[in-house]
Amino acid sequence: MQSELRKRLLDAFTNSGDDFLSGQYLADLIGCTRTAVWKHIEELRKEGFELEAVRRKGYRIVKVPEKITENEVRLGLMTKRLGQHIHYEESVDSTQKIALQLSLDGAPEGTVVIAEEQTNGRGRMARTWFSPKYTGIWMSVILRPQLLPHKAPQLTLVTAVAVVQAIEELVSIKPQIKWPNDILIDGKKMTGILTELQAESDRINSVIIGIGINANQELEVYPEELQSIATSLRIETGKTINRAELIKLVLAKIEHLYDVYLQEGFYPIKLLWESYAVSIGKMITARMLQGNLYGKALGITDDGALMMEDELGKVHLVYSADIEI
Ligand code: BTN
Repeated sequence: MQSELRKRLLDAFTNSGDDFLSGQYLADLIGCTRTAVWKHIEELRKEGFELEAVRRKGYRIVKVPEKITENEVRLGLMTKRLGQHIHYEESVDSTQKIALQLSLDGAPEGTVVIAEEQTNGRGRMARTWFSPKYTGIWMSVILRPQLLPHKAPQLTLVTAVAVVQAIEELVSIKPQIKWPNDILIDGKKMTGILTELQAESDRINSVIIGIGINANQELEVYPEELQSIATSLRIETGKTINRAELIKLVLAKIEHLYDVYLQEGFYPIKLLWESYAVSIGKMITARMLQGNLYGKALGITDDGALMMEDELGKVHLVYSADIEI
């Protein structure tokens, strides 16, 4: 966790754009001495920020570091709740585990856990999630919606739409969503979302949304069994992704769509989700614990369940499955 002063300092640089801010101006703004401002600026430099200092003008940020830092995520973050509390970790077993503990300890809605590496990243259906260091976005977001527990899966779909929109905006490619929450480019998985719920029978305590985005991995780093089914934004675009920028964009999009969802319900999200869905209208196989179902994907229900029509014309609702197209 970082100090309140550091947060205010970064907010000041966020709002100043390319303008210089004098030491005195910053000291008055954030309520400390010029020496304290200077110390905070030195700390930012240690983290890899480059700050230009010009006599009689002051400071401005000219370069942000490669490694994700809490400060870099903070600089330019345009949200009111999501990411206002960030727990940044160099290496963890799973950000989901840390976020769960924080939520039990009373962390506020919007708290985000970000790690550079996960040694035991978790996927859906008890799978592992490959999370190598400094290349991807491994983060968990704590939400505390006042909803009935059965609505929680809808938040997975809210998140999937938000991630797709953020990627579209950042790199101008349009990923697709495979129900319920795989984000694909040309059929290869680029992002996974894992939603975990703490609830009583009639109320949600917290929903922890884990997001894994393959950003800067090269194909060679993937284990062999993943090479034909996984991809990263760098592989697809040939460009290095600024992960902090993508995190900020994802958080802003989630916050916006989450607000739309809380105010207007699931319908607008459902329409957006269906516009990105890869499987709707296609013949698919749903692999479930109770067996396989082959049929046409019709769309999703208000609960976020997948509607499938089998070959006899009977409509089934699928709540948990792996989909093969
Ligand atoms: C999937 O199986 O598609 C879901 C993958 C979710 C991975 C993310 S990475 C951040 C968070 N921490 C985890 O251990 N898992 C999720």
